[in-house]
Amino acid sequence: MKRGDINQYLDIHKMPSHIAIIMDGNGRWAQERGLPRVSGHKAGVNALKEIIIACSDLNIKVLSLYAFSTENWKRPKEEVNALMNLLVSSLKKEIDKLNENNIKIRVIGEKEGLPEKVQKEVIKAEERTKNNTGLILNIALNYGGRKEIIHSVKEVCKKVINNELTLDDIDENIFSQMLYTNGLPDPDLIIRPSGELRLSNFLLWQSAYSEFWFTPVYWPDFKKEHLIQAIIDYQKRNRRFGSIQTGVGE
Ligand code: IPE
Ligand code: IPE
Ligand code: MG
Repeated sequence: MKRGDINQYLDIHKMPSHIAIIMDGNGRWAQERGLPRVSGHKAGVNALKEIIIACSDLNIKVLSLYAFSTENWKRPKEEVNALMNLLVSSLKKEIDKLNENNIKIRVIGEKEGLPEKVQKEVIKAEERTKNNTGLILNIALNYGGRKEIIHSVKEVCKKVINNELTLDDIDENIFSQMLYTNGLPDPDLIIRPSGELRLSNFLLWQSAYSEFWFTPVYWPDFKKEHLIQAIIDYQKRNRRFGSIQTGVGE
């Protein structure tokens, strides 16, 4: 199929509002080419550029990206440093273009745990794009779903201690408001490349009713065509939310 043709198979009335991607397989992509793992991460950033623009063109409201997990600190120091440097340099290089495309950057995760230069760049990018009204690019950095839930529990407890909430006030809605993702819809579609079939601590609370799409393709080889295919497959699913016979987006 020629590039571009595939778009016509999309139903614009059943588009997912929020797509989340676990960008995985950079290391294996590099390894297969006899390259250092960091080359895979660099190739991963290139793949990402195409996907961000595609989501923006498709009028997707939110694109969440798993960029660095709370567990990724277990990797060799050199790789962690290279990833942090890549983050800073990519943000610096791409921020003008992202801003021109009306994209709003938001970062979820424990920002305080990131190196200072990363924190600085992240805050700058959020500040610069805060009034943009297009695609929300939600980057999970030093993010762990369990840590996020604990964070939310603590925020709720604080409010109870300060008499701002009673125990009876606590419900799913209040709890969701204390998550990093406050104000964002839950992901409709979660995509994981690289052949792994797991969440790896990503958006645990928010993924309760997400649809999953997996591919063996490594993230650096992930193209717009894969994204479109994932959305086409998603549109064929029957999202029941525990009820009977409702369709996608209903
Ligand atoms: C994903 O690719 C990038 C990050 C986790 C930061 P990996 O580095 O996990 O690639 P594989 O899974 O080792 O191939
Ligand atoms: C998940 O990938 C984290 C990111 C993509 C940032 P990992 O490669 O860290 O996940 P596991 O270790 O295979 O579960
Ligand atoms: Mg991996």
